[in-house]
Amino acid sequence: MFSTMSKTLSTGGLICRNFSSSTKRQAKVAVLGASGGIGQPMSLLIKQNPLVSHLSLYDIAHTPGVAADLSHINSAAKVTGHMGPDQLSACLDKCDIVVIPAGVPRKPGMTRDDLFNTNASIVRDLTDACARVCPQAMICIIANPVNSTVPITAEVFKKHNAFDPKRIFGVTTLDVVRANAFIAEAKGLDAAEVSCPVVGGHAGITIVPLISQCKPAVSFDADKLDAMTKRIQDAGTEVVKAKAGAGSATLSMAFAGARFTFSLLNAMKGKTGVIECAYVKSNETDASYFATPIHLGPNGMEKNLGLGKLSAYEKDLVEKAIPELKASIKKGEDFVHK
Ligand code: NAD
Ligand code: LMR
Repeated sequence: MFSTMSKTLSTGGLICRNFSSSTKRQAKVAVLGASGGIGQPMSLLIKQNPLVSHLSLYDIAHTPGVAADLSHINSAAKVTGHMGPDQLSACLDKCDIVVIPAGVPRKPGMTRDDLFNTNASIVRDLTDACARVCPQAMICIIANPVNSTVPITAEVFKKHNAFDPKRIFGVTTLDVVRANAFIAEAKGLDAAEVSCPVVGGHAGITIVPLISQCKPAVSFDADKLDAMTKRIQDAGTEVVKAKAGAGSATLSMAFAGARFTFSLLNAMKGKTGVIECAYVKSNETDASYFATPIHLGPNGMEKNLGLGKLSAYEKDLVEKAIPELKASIKKGEDFVHK
């Protein structure tokens, strides 16, 4: 893990023009929900990235303490803490990237969609502030249900005439991280060297690992392929069950959220060839939002790299994902317009 990260961190040669101020060499990153199970460790990781000049932390609780604690780390990023709605605009002012893990996590027996009633309004209100204060920022949504919270974000930005589909991302990086870890474990490979795209959405059968496109190439018997696919699809539930009421994945999500943020930072400063899977506005399938590998550049999504060549098994998985995705997207869009 850290070998990959240190490769990312060691790249030099910053380009100024892509961040919000032409004189600024580095980026302001905000974390909304910064005091939470994901927010704290993810902020710790982001604090270490030399491309970050200002790490701005927002939550409805505990942000002064989290910010004071992180600010004692001797890395370059300045840290500020902002608590409660009155301080949200200050947190977002001149932000280049906003990462949003604010919201409640699952307990055993719940689906991600069961979080909709609580998290939809949290994401709507936070992204409304983003659309007002930092409409050009890259918005990275972690809060579940991602399949609906990303369409919510898009509709909020449309209301402000600020919608740019290249700048709104559902963070599905954890699905890729898990696929890489599980495949490496099964095949005795170095997990840091495995790269398996995961497409579709971020809930149950909408999570579609494309194991036929894994690098290095791997093969599984049909029953083992099915078991591996199901493990990746159900990995979030595996953690929810293991935590037995104490929440869902936090540390692995912090790692995944930091990885996606670092990829964006690198692409925004001009690094070429940066590719991550993310859930974005899409024309690749009948679902109007769909995760695929995307090429990141200075202005966000440079190019959607699409699904590539699918096996018959994967085509079937994609077909099965689409009705649920469409329903989750509609639910999110309707929520904003109700
Ligand atoms: P948590 O309860 O530990 O932390 C959530 C934080 O959000 C808390 O600090 C809380 O005070 C804060 N919060 C609540 N309402 C807020 C508001 N209106 N404004 C700002 N902050 C607010 O939960 P967690 O484990 O960090 O999970 C957060 C979310 O991330 C959940 O919805 C979870 O399902 C989701 N998640 C997504 C992925 C993914 O792959 N995309 C992975 C793991 C978890
Ligand atoms: C995950 O995949 O771990 C997250 O979406 C959290 C959850 O509820 O499973």
